[in-house]
Amino acid sequence: MKGKIVVIVVMAAVLVSSSQARVFANDEGGETAYRFDPATQTSRAMEFKNTWEGYKLYKANCKSCHFRDNERGARYMNEDSRTMMGWNAVFYKKNVRCAKDGSWAKLSPQDLLYINDYLYSKAYDTWDPRSNKSCG
Ligand code: HEC
Repeated sequence: MKGKIVVIVVMAAVLVSSSQARVFANDEGGETAYRFDPATQTSRAMEFKNTWEGYKLYKANCKSCHFRDNERGARYMNEDSRTMMGWNAVFYKKNVRCAKDGSWAKLSPQDLLYINDYLYSKAYDTWDPRSNKSCG
């Protein structure tokens, strides 16, 4: 009997803590919860799996050119080089030079959605109380 009660108490504790964990995960970094994607006309959840995928793709396929003092003629670019709407426009219109000249060719539409998710979540007009962004 005692053993059973212990098991039940432990299970209850696990349930409570895992539901808490989910609340914190959703709350992360003051990120916007959803991004409306104009190209696919869908709402995209700003979840870790999307933004993490986007972060990796961005570092490998965008930062590869847009780093400081690069010799590829690409301006230095950061996550906060654009606003949320600004990033959406870049990926919707695809009218920046590298999108037109084939530098994005090896990225699938799905890859570009992930990169857009990531950049949107870190755009200039997002605010993270734990960062020093607003302190200049
Ligand atoms: C092969 C190198 C290369 C890669 C890879 C690349 N770019 Fe570019 N990008 C350029 C060049 C060159 C320009 C034109 C010069 C400029 O304006 O920076 C440019 C221009 C831009 C601009 C306009 C510049 C500005 O600040 O207004 C944006 C935005 C941009 N790229 C975003 C991206 C994103 C997002 C990715 C990844 C999906 C990417 N680029 C990948 C070379 C690259």
